[in-house]
Order: sequence, then structure tokens, then C-alpha cells
Amino acid sequence: MSVEESPLPGVEPIRKIIVAIDGPAGAGKSTIARHLAQHFGLLNLETGAMYRAFALKALRASVPLDDAAALEALAAETTVRLEPGDENNRVLLDEEDVTGLIRNPMVTSAASRVSVFPSIRSWMVRLQQQLGAGGGVVMEGRDIGTVVFPQAEVKIFLDAAPEVRGMRRYDQMGPKPATQPEDVIRELRTRDERDRNRADSPLKPAEDAVLLDSTDMTLEQAVQAAEAIVTAKLA
Ligand code: DC
Repeated sequence: MSVEESPLPGVEPIRKIIVAIDGPAGAGKSTIARHLAQHFGLLNLETGAMYRAFALKALRASVPLDDAAALEALAAETTVRLEPGDENNRVLLDEEDVTGLIRNPMVTSAASRVSVFPSIRSWMVRLQQQLGAGGGVVMEGRDIGTVVFPQAEVKIFLDAAPEVRGMRRYDQMGPKPATQPEDVIRELRTRDERDRNRADSPLKPAEDAVLLDSTDMTLEQAVQAAEAIVTAKLA
């Protein structure tokens, strides 16, 4: 555990913990990470936004999403930065603020596709390790507890049945004239399958992660359960 030595006897040392939250899409990671960050005074870092920003660049440049060499070349001339904010992160792609441009279905699917390539992953992992190096963070993604910060003090693996995750996503969407819940669930299953079955750092719980299945919980209950897990780990 990373503990800063206190210079004064009797003064509690400041604990700069890392909380890793992994899980599939729609499991409630963002809501829970945001709450934990506020409650425990930590920075909230959304790693999926980094893959999304790079995917946006690949789409704009019309680079085929299955061309590893072309994607690697594109990555070499790309900067992605995450700036933690009170609510959400600000995402900078080559210093352009793309925060509002990376949540649409096209970028969502592209992010999952570009994230299978080891060269893209090792670049992102390095950036994420730099971001969290000082501790005091909640970092959410797919491989935080297994690859990015295997030494994290708290690891939570969030899950829920695909139908439940899909319905949550559907309910969170704005106006949706042509979209049916089944479409959202199908898209989510496709992405899950890719994220769970890729060869490099697939989505899976770390051996020492606490599993939190929110299928039969409201998001509010899941938030409370996650808070209790962190509190217990810190005790
Ligand atoms: O968490 P998200 O939905 O914003 O992530 C988008 C995609 O990025 C996800 O389908 C897989 C990839 N991703 C990843 O491979 N590793 C991470 N740590 C975070 C996201």
C-alpha cells in the first residue's frame, strides 16, 4: 500500500490510494467512479475516453480500424490527454477538446476495435500509469486492476446482466426515435465479446478484485455497495 510517511508523530499519514474499477459497458462504472472520487477526495480518471479520442482520430483520418500498422503510425503522431474535472474528464486530442464528440455509437464501436491492438494498448497503458503515478485516484476501464495498476489498493470488478446494462444505457440516452432497447443490448453484447476475448489484456477480473454484480440493484444501491468496499479496504 502506498502510504506517505508523516513527518509528525501522532499525525495520520496521508494515504494516496489507487482504486481500480473494471467491468463491461453499462455496468455503472462511471457513476460509481464519480461518486467514489467525490466521497473519498480522489481524482476520477476515465480511461475509456482515451481510447475513444484515438478512435475519433482514426475515423477522421479514414484509417481502417483493422490495420494495426496504420493505426500504430497514426498513434505515433497523436497526443491524448485527460484532464480530471469535478464531474467528467476533459479529453484533449492533439490539444483539441473532443469531450463532447466521443460518446456517439460510431466512436463507441471504433474505440473497442482499436483497443485490441497491443501497440495501441501499451501506449495507452503508459499514459495511464503516468496519470495515476502519484496515487489518489479512481481509475476506471477494462484492465486497470490487471495491467495498468496491478498494485492498486482497491480493485472492484463491476458486472450486471447484459439486458440490465443495455436497458440502463437505453434509459440514459437522449431522444431515440429509431433506436430500440434490443439494438442497444445487441451493440453492447458485440462490444463485450470483443473486449472480453481480445488476446491482449482482455476484460476480466483481477484475482484479488472484489466482484460487484449490480443486476438486481439500483445504481444507487451499487454506489453504496462500492463505497462500503472501499471503506472496508481502508479500515
Ligand atoms: O469505458 P468505455 O465504454 O468508454 O470504453 C470504450 C472502449 O475502450 C471499450 O469498449 C474498450 C476500450 N477500453 C479498453 O480496452 N481498456 C480500457 N481501460 C478502457 C476502455
